[in-house]
Amino acid sequence: MRTSRSLIAGALSLATLAVAPTAAWAAPVQTATPPPAHESHQFSRSSLASMAGELGLTFGVAVNTDELENDRKYRHLATTQFSSVTAENVMKWGPMEPVRGEIDYGPAEALIASAVENDQLVRGHTLVWHSQTPAWLSPDGTETTLTPQQVRDAMQKRVTETATHFKGQIWQWDVVNEAFNEDGTYRRTVFYNAYEALGLPGHQYIADAFRWAHAADPDALLFYNDYNLEFTSPKVLAAEAMVKELLAQDVPIHGVGLQGHLATQYGFPNLQENLQRFADLGLEVALTEVDIRTFVQPDGNGGFTHEVLTPELQATTEAFWRGTLEACLAVEACNSYTVWGVGDANSWVPGVFPGEGSALLWDERLNKKAQFHELRDVLRDAIRQQ
Ligand code: G3I
Repeated sequence: MRTSRSLIAGALSLATLAVAPTAAWAAPVQTATPPPAHESHQFSRSSLASMAGELGLTFGVAVNTDELENDRKYRHLATTQFSSVTAENVMKWGPMEPVRGEIDYGPAEALIASAVENDQLVRGHTLVWHSQTPAWLSPDGTETTLTPQQVRDAMQKRVTETATHFKGQIWQWDVVNEAFNEDGTYRRTVFYNAYEALGLPGHQYIADAFRWAHAADPDALLFYNDYNLEFTSPKVLAAEAMVKELLAQDVPIHGVGLQGHLATQYGFPNLQENLQRFADLGLEVALTEVDIRTFVQPDGNGGFTHEVLTPELQATTEAFWRGTLEACLAVEACNSYTVWGVGDANSWVPGVFPGEGSALLWDERLNKKAQFHELRDVLRDAIRQQ
C-alpha cells in the first residue's frame, strides 16, 4: 500500500536533485528504484521526518525565513524535524516583486539553500494567488489600474520567470491558490476579471498558469491548493469539477493540496473521503497547511494567550491532530503532510481570529506540546502495523 508514496518521497531528496536535476518525478509514473526515504544523518530516528519517512510520507513545515535566520532553536527544529519546507511568505508574488520588474529572489534562495543543506524537499508556495499581490498589480487582489491584457501578461511573466528561476529545485508548486468562493463559484479575482474582459472564460487563467508552470519546470509536481476542501461542501465539489475539466483538457495538474486549517468549533471534517475524492481522479494529494486552532485564555490586557480555555478543548485539539494525520496515512496518494509553522509565537491565527490560538505543535517558547507527541504516536502505531 505504501509503495508509490515511498517511491515518491524517496526519490526526491533535494541533495539527490542537486546532482541529478532531471530526476523523473512527474506523477503518476515512478520507475527508478530510489534510496529509502529520508535516511539522512541529521534526522534522528524519533523525528517526525524519519518516522514519517518510514511510512513513505514527507513531513513538512511552513518556514518563517526571518526566524530561520535569527532564532537558533527555531532553526534547529525546522531543519531536524521536517523533511520538506514551504516558504510561508517569501515566494508569494507581493513579497517577491514589490516594485514592478525588481524581483527579490534572495529570501527564497536562502530557504532553498538551507533545504539542500538539510536534505529537505521544497514545496513552492505560491505562483498565482489573489492575496499578497503586489500593489502595482492590485492592492486588494481584485482592483487594478492595468489593462486586462497587461494583467494576463504580468501573470504569464510571473509564472514563467519564477518557475524557471527555481527550476529543478521545487518538488511541488502550489500553482494556483484559493480560486473558489465557499459557494463553489469562482472568486472574481484580478486574474479572473482580466480573462473575462478579454472575452475568455474567467477561470481559464487557471489552466494557463498550470501550462506555463509546466513549460518552465517540467519535473515539478503542480498542485491546486485551497482551504475548506476538507468538508464535503459546494467548494470541494467545484474543485473536483475543475480538476476533471483540467484533466479533460490535458492540463498538467498533478495534485491537490487540502490546506487543513481546522478549528475545534466546527467539528472534524470527513477528510479522508475528500482526500480520496482527488486521489480517485489519479492525482496526488497532500495536507499542505495543517494547523488546529481553538479558544484560548485572555491575557488580562485585552489580548489573548495561547493557553487553551478548557481541558476538553485541549483534548479535542489533540484528537483533531491525530485525525488529520490518520486521514492522510489512510489515503495512498497522500504523499506529504505539512504543518503551517513551528511554534505558536509565529502563527497567523491570533491575528486573524482573535480569541483563538494554540494552533501549532510547539508553544510560544518552542517547547513541544501534547499535539506533537500525539502525532508521533500516530506514526509509531502506523509503523508497527506495516
Ligand atoms: O513583512 C511585512 C512587514 O514588512 C510589515 O511591517 C508588516 C505589517 O503588517 O507586514 C509584514 O507582512 C506580513 C506577512 O505575513 C509576513 O509576516 C503581512 O502583513 C501578513 O498579511 C502576512 O500574513 C500571511 C498571510 O498568509 C497573508 O495572507 C501569513 O504570515 C501566512 O501564514 C498566511 O498563509 C496563508 C497561506 O499562504 C495560504 N493559505 C492560508 C494561510 C493562512 O492565512
